[in-house]
Amino acid sequence: MGLAGKTVVLCVTGGIAAYKAADLTSKLRQAGAAVRVLMTESATQFIAPMTFETLSGYRTVVDTFDRDFAWEVEHISLAKAADVFVIAPATANVIAKAAHGIADDMVTTTLLATKAPVVIAPAMNTGMYDNPVTQENLRTLRRRGFHIVEPAAGRLACGDTGRGKLPDTPTLLWGIEKALAPQDLAGKRVLVTAGPTQEAMDPVRFLSNHSTGKMGYALAARAAMRGAEVTLVSGPTALETPHGVHRVDVVSAREMHEEVVSRAAQQDMIIKAAAVGDYRPAETAPEKLKKGEGELTVTLARNPDILAALGHSKRPGQMLCGFAMETQNLLDNAADKLRRKNCDMLVANSLRDKGAGFGTDTNLVTLLYADGTRETPPLMSKEALSDIILDRLLQRAAQG
Ligand code: CTP
Repeated sequence: MGLAGKTVVLCVTGGIAAYKAADLTSKLRQAGAAVRVLMTESATQFIAPMTFETLSGYRTVVDTFDRDFAWEVEHISLAKAADVFVIAPATANVIAKAAHGIADDMVTTTLLATKAPVVIAPAMNTGMYDNPVTQENLRTLRRRGFHIVEPAAGRLACGDTGRGKLPDTPTLLWGIEKALAPQDLAGKRVLVTAGPTQEAMDPVRFLSNHSTGKMGYALAARAAMRGAEVTLVSGPTALETPHGVHRVDVVSAREMHEEVVSRAAQQDMIIKAAAVGDYRPAETAPEKLKKGEGELTVTLARNPDILAALGHSKRPGQMLCGFAMETQNLLDNAADKLRRKNCDMLVANSLRDKGAGFGTDTNLVTLLYADGTRETPPLMSKEALSDIILDRLLQRAAQG
């Protein structure tokens, strides 16, 4: 998983966004990748090769018409060394050459020779980007399996406003990591719920729980990285929406119920990592409750059980995964939940285990399956565990 140990060949072509490739180089290296930078002659007008040399720790290969035999060998060896080949920023010119197999400089000859996945991050003036010829070229590249990282919209260096900005470094890193990830969830729709719910007592108070949403967000991020079309129905959290994920915000269990159930039929997988409140105050006071002298008794009403509703309306082939957090009798309670809610899989964790549960970056769980089998992967990051959960759901879906 990730960029650690990978060789990234980064081609920098001549546009004002070339300076941003320096930050990309630095962040790729911090993520554990080896970065080999290739520049076109015109890119060196915007940023010096020395910058990349310092950041990458390798000699920057600059385009030259004065090519001798050694250069030829270098471009082939770089083409072979690449685990992923990145052009960022990519000018309209290099995109046109790539689409038509023109190889007249170091960048384009190396590109033509590589068998690695290719990521292209276009950056140019809006008019050039929107021009039908550029769009047609990008379609051609997409059709051939190139990964295009869409440019951002905003104010461009030339003063125009529109599409054409090189995306920020986290977006580029995401595009590169995605090109390296197996796209085994491509074409699948995955819905994930995450976070707590909040049940209002009055305009200033609510009932909730300690969920931070980390497990659900990690699942959504990994599913999107592996090519799924992901909807994340999220209770209130402090987390950023993962790249490539469509997020729907909800507050209460009833809102979550509505947003999930209305989308359920279209999903191939539903993973219910949210910590849904089982109860809500029977009445929500329209104004702030004022304190009195004695005790306050609040009557709670039952919330709908979303997972149970999904389990009982599950269509053939759809995979349903629930979560169970317990403080006692973990596996018995979890097995019972799996059966009652008609899940294919249940992820059980104990609040008592170190490194598991609310707010941690790791998790220790037991996975229970509908056929009665179980497994307990070792303590690991929520990202790595997400990959295992997705692997198992895919395998079980394939078994039918
Ligand atoms: N869940 C749900 N709707 C609810 C309550 C829970 O969809 N109203 C889902 C959670 O998202 C989770 C699973 O059910 O995937 C288990 O949640 P948990 O609170 O552990 O189970 P409960 O059924 O509420 O059982 P109990 O509170 O009795 O342990």
